[in-house]
Amino acid sequence: MTGPPLPLRTARLVLRTAETGDLDAVHSYWGDPEVTRYLPFDTLDRAGSLARLGRYFGSTDPQAAGDALFLVVEHEGRIVGDVMLRLKTGEPPSVAELGWVFHPSVAGQGLATEAASAMAALAFGHYACHRVEAQLDPHNDRSAALCRRLGMQQEAHLRLDWFGKGEWGDTMIFGMLREEWSGPRGS
Ligand SMILES: CC(C)(COP(=O)(O)OP(=O)(O)OC[C@H]1O[C@@H](n2cnc3c(N)ncnc32)[C@H](O)[C@@H]1OP(=O)(O)O)[C@@H](O)C(=O)NCCC(=O)NCCS
Repeated sequence: MTGPPLPLRTARLVLRTAETGDLDAVHSYWGDPEVTRYLPFDTLDRAGSLARLGRYFGSTDPQAAGDALFLVVEHEGRIVGDVMLRLKTGEPPSVAELGWVFHPSVAGQGLATEAASAMAALAFGHYACHRVEAQLDPHNDRSAALCRRLGMQQEAHLRLDWFGKGEWGDTMIFGMLREEWSGPRGS
């Protein structure tokens, strides 16, 4: 399969592969405890952000189960967040997991929904997946609301299935099938 058509463009956003020069921008929110509260990784110091960013440089063309596409999201020329699409199955891919992290300064404008919607379109279109899902901490109300705006529905609440940040926690699973997808959401 050829790689995805990058960068992705929406009405207000450009979603592109990450570069070394993006470190300051992503660290400005990966290093914020309010942002990482419900994420599976701890709040990062600068070295941690550099290491995390470095792991994603090759994440541009997922093919096999477990491979990811990681894109930073630009709005009006500045990075405001990042999104990820991870294939859960390969050959052919049929289920993709989506993830999103945005800078608090742009909350409440629909930018995360717009970016996530572009990734869902990629999953159902370019990767021909039949299912898209997201996993979240049940306390993460904003992320759950984003899932619902995308058209996902809550399918599961797993109890104490995941150990992270020193304690066992629950996981909420949202999902959407191809036939439930009503198309990309713009501004
Ligand atoms: C999860 C996260 C991305 C959600 O951000 P968000 O700002 O709530 O989401 P959006 O950018 O889609 O904005 C939605 C809001 O903009 C409003 N909005 C304005 N214009 C809009 C538009 N054109 N389209 C959609 N929503 C729009 C919506 O009504 C909604 O408002 P509300 O918050 O008052 O309900 C953000 O909270 C975040 O990055 N959290 C930290 C990281 C994290 O937890 N990631 C998820 C791990 S599972």
